[in-house]
Amino acid sequence: MENFSFSYAIFACEYGLTAKSMSAKELSKKPSKSVVATFTSILLRWYGENGRSLPWRDVTDPYPIWLSEVILQQTRIQQGWSYWERFMQRWPTVKQLADATEDEVLRLWQGLGYYSRARHLHAAAKQIVSLGGFPTDYASIRKLQGVGEYTAAAISSFAFGEPVAVVDGNVYRVLSRVFGIDTPINTSEGKKTFAALANQLLPKDKPAAYNQAMMDFGAMQCTPKSPDCETCPILEMCDAYHSHRIDTLPVKLRKMNIKTRYFNYVLLRCEGKIAIRRRPAGDIWQGLWEPFLLETQVKAGVEIVLEHCAGWGTLTLLKEGVKHVLTHRVIFADFYLLETSLPPSLPSDYVWVDLTSYDDYAKPRLIEILMNAM
Ligand code: ADE
Repeated sequence: MENFSFSYAIFACEYGLTAKSMSAKELSKKPSKSVVATFTSILLRWYGENGRSLPWRDVTDPYPIWLSEVILQQTRIQQGWSYWERFMQRWPTVKQLADATEDEVLRLWQGLGYYSRARHLHAAAKQIVSLGGFPTDYASIRKLQGVGEYTAAAISSFAFGEPVAVVDGNVYRVLSRVFGIDTPINTSEGKKTFAALANQLLPKDKPAAYNQAMMDFGAMQCTPKSPDCETCPILEMCDAYHSHRIDTLPVKLRKMNIKTRYFNYVLLRCEGKIAIRRRPAGDIWQGLWEPFLLETQVKAGVEIVLEHCAGWGTLTLLKEGVKHVLTHRVIFADFYLLETSLPPSLPSDYVWVDLTSYDDYAKPRLIEILMNAM
């Protein structure tokens, strides 16, 4: 392992770092010059020894760089590389790409997925031609179609040496671990925190090498699962390693997938009894008792429910569009009463009980609301 004259304790102290996580406020304190110098010199040395040789590196023409960044946004290098070569062969300049038809671009893109990338690429090529050439600074590059902060930072630093730090998944991972930051990366506070730190660390005279180094270090050494800590030259200053948080950093807030469901409850009433069932395992309200349920993919309405209950009796709509919000889902419920003198044949989990005794059964809050509406 690299022998650098640096101790974790000094680093931690200079950075105001403790085993406890740092807040964005703490991070607004700049890392000291020696922390910055140590981090960047280790990183750049690692990159010199381990960096990947890629055909769009070590060029300053923004076109091949831009093309590689757009292709690699959602694609692995192995797969993206051959597409990049095919695009460069077919349209070696931005002008040629702009002169192609969108269909031709989409055709060559086929297999890469996320086709809006190809459409934006083509539209941006036209934009560049109408501007009279590739824009040469971060702010102007950022205005191109499909070019976000990350891509603009990559192009402006690689092609024009502009000192802007890239912040992508690799950067979040490396910085959150080395500096022990547990601010969630998918919050505006997290984004600000990591962008500020990345820019504080970026050596103004070597922005391209630093940005490439961060990407490669994140992709090759400080990987999401099983990072290679044993051979890591930054280990000594890695907060996550010392506080046993490699597996928990970076923190990403789970965006809950809110699902909408449509429940049509039919209170089947036959001679003072109603049909209810116990809700099965593996779904909400497991074990609670509910009236006859018809769940539909979209809002059903009386006709659909009538169709389902054809010949059972007289259907009356009691309440419609009751919105019920749970942690992971929203339920829209309609509630019907169906009077019958002959019990219809129902799925075997339904039982007939006295309407008056239903009070004693555990039921979802939604059903309580609906029963009260009766
Ligand atoms: N992923 C996206 N851009 C990259 C680049 N320039 N080098 C390595 N991996 C990347």
